Amino acid sequence: MSSDLFGQIAVVTGGARGLGLSMARALARQGVRIALFDLLEQVEANAAELAKEHDVETVGVSVDVTSDTALADGFRIATQRLGRPTILINAAGITIWGDSLDTELKVWQKVIDVNLTGTFLACQAFGRGCRSAQAPGVVVNVSSMSAKVVNVPQHQASYHASKAGVEMLTKALAVEWADLGIRVNAIAPGYFLSDMTREFTESNPELAEQWRSMIPLGRMGEPHDLDGLVTFLCSDSSAYLTGQSIVIDGAYTAI
Ligand SMILES: NC(=O)c1ccc[n+]([C@@H]2O[C@H](COP(=O)([O-])OP(=O)(O)OC[C@H]3O[C@@H](n4cnc5c(N)ncnc54)[C@H](O)[C@@H]3O)[C@@H](O)[C@H]2O)c1
Repeated sequence: MSSDLFGQIAVVTGGARGLGLSMARALARQGVRIALFDLLEQVEANAAELAKEHDVETVGVSVDVTSDTALADGFRIATQRLGRPTILINAAGITIWGDSLDTELKVWQKVIDVNLTGTFLACQAFGRGCRSAQAPGVVVNVSSMSAKVVNVPQHQASYHASKAGVEMLTKALAVEWADLGIRVNAIAPGYFLSDMTREFTESNPELAEQWRSMIPLGRMGEPHDLDGLVTFLCSDSSAYLTGQSIVIDGAYTAI
């Protein structure tokens, strides 16, 4: 257990399922109180389950990360129920596949709105809370290896562009907020078996095999493979680490 994490308060966007919920679980195991923000109805039930499993206070709030007012309400509720958030994990994200020549503006815009603008707005709401309290904080944005390399065979230009934006946003905020004591880093996962990717791999086992065959470690990541990295980035063990994106991909991008 990382003793400096015990009793802290984390907001996890996209926390109702997938990598967000798994990272929330890793922090709860360290005694961190958890506020899950998500659009899915199951957000409240999953927060309650987390509280039971790990004996920490939690709250699940219905929040759309593309809305600054919904985020402000979410942070207000999280603060009332748990205390002022000291950690923010931005895991809310979507992907929409399609050929760029046929992509409609509204589809492009939706991916950018959730993945990039949503990440910015959640960081802004969190940063404002830190500034008001004159207290430090930690942000972990969930980027992707797709910020650095182009995935094949699927076409997802909007996703690549949004995640590349998340990486530059991470650096910009790390520099801008260094004086406030807010560290901002990113995690860039390769192919992980989340609820999102399971939908693709189960309906298309050949695609799953193609992805797997390109990963030197020979398997897709399991959500719990992020546990150590997210715990490290949130704790004082990484006190001098900010403005970085750490790839965790079974060496996919190494070749
Ligand atoms: N699974 C992978 O292989 C992989 C790889 C690299 C990066 N990522 C990133 O990890 C993050 C989590 O993805 P996942 O694979 O767990 O997917 P997921 O679909 O299982 O989880 C994403 C969550 O985000 C929520 N969400 C979507 N739009 C939202 C909005 N507007 N407001 C609030 N919540 C919203 C969803 O409801 C869902 O609960 C995403 O940012 C994704 O891009 C995933």
